[in-house]
Amino acid sequence: MYSVFVTRKLPGPGLDRLREFCEVSIFPADRNITKEELLQVIPQQDAVITMLADPVDADVIAAGSKLKAIANYAVGFNNIDIAAATRRGVAVLNTPDVLSEATADLAWALLLAAARRVVEADGFVRSGRFTGWSPELLLGVEVYGKTLGVVGAGRIGQAVARRAAGFGMRILYYNRRRLPKAVEQELHLTYADLATVLQEADFISLHCPLTPDTRHLIGAAELRLMKPTAILINTSRGPVVDEAALVAALKEGRIFGAGLDVFEQEPALHPELARLPNVVLAPHIGSAATETRQRMVDLVVSGVLAVLQGSRPSNLVNPEIFEREGSR
Ligand code: GLV
Ligand code: GLV
Repeated sequence: MYSVFVTRKLPGPGLDRLREFCEVSIFPADRNITKEELLQVIPQQDAVITMLADPVDADVIAAGSKLKAIANYAVGFNNIDIAAATRRGVAVLNTPDVLSEATADLAWALLLAAARRVVEADGFVRSGRFTGWSPELLLGVEVYGKTLGVVGAGRIGQAVARRAAGFGMRILYYNRRRLPKAVEQELHLTYADLATVLQEADFISLHCPLTPDTRHLIGAAELRLMKPTAILINTSRGPVVDEAALVAALKEGRIFGAGLDVFEQEPALHPELARLPNVVLAPHIGSAATETRQRMVDLVVSGVLAVLQGSRPSNLVNPEIFEREGSR
């Protein structure tokens, strides 16, 4: 029987399907596993299901002498040394597609909350300061008819763009590779370089993966290109934004606001962020909808079972693994 280790308790009954074929053990603590703890358990495992902050580096992968699959319970996989896994013939899986709509919903929740100061307004009412309607109370910025800038136009960025139709928005996008014309036409997307997107968009939403190229993609210089009325939304990975530069821009009112679901030193917060009224903060909950999280379980389970049974899963990050096996 195969052994599979899961680094966190997961929602719903999805793991039961794995238990029919595998011995499944779950890290008992309600916190992220450490590298040392991973190193201890990994030698006995045929597969591991990991979370997005688990440090699955080359040492951990090397210690997995029986390891055939690493299934990350996330679409992002910047916590995994993909090259090391590929060299050792270990399949890496993620959870694309099933969380795109939920993450796009959250990006929009942050966008609307930041634009219309919903969190400030909530605090205002709760604290008993609401003494009556007032012409200048909590003025925000209008969303309808504005320009949306999508940075990173993969599945999530496209889902965010699709929602903009109801807001009558013009949509600019920047992506490493330009999308096919048919997709641009269907979603009413206009391709532009990053500087143009930053200069022209009223709302800029980040949806790129974290790679060496995208680390601090938005820094002091990029923030200076943005309009004073602009709002920056980040539901991707914290280090895509230079958080100190963003704090400075928000403090000085050089942009109107921000909505952040992810942080540079996650879970640590820049000490000034929590004091700024013009930023809406969320604890990395982009995919945190019940149905979504259960679909993510189903997807990692199907992927692990496929790898253990020798077939190629749909959610494979490093397809080279199977190409190499095919030529063996
Ligand atoms: C969440 O951030 C994910 O990558 O799924
Ligand atoms: C994530 O799946 C993306 O491509 O945006």
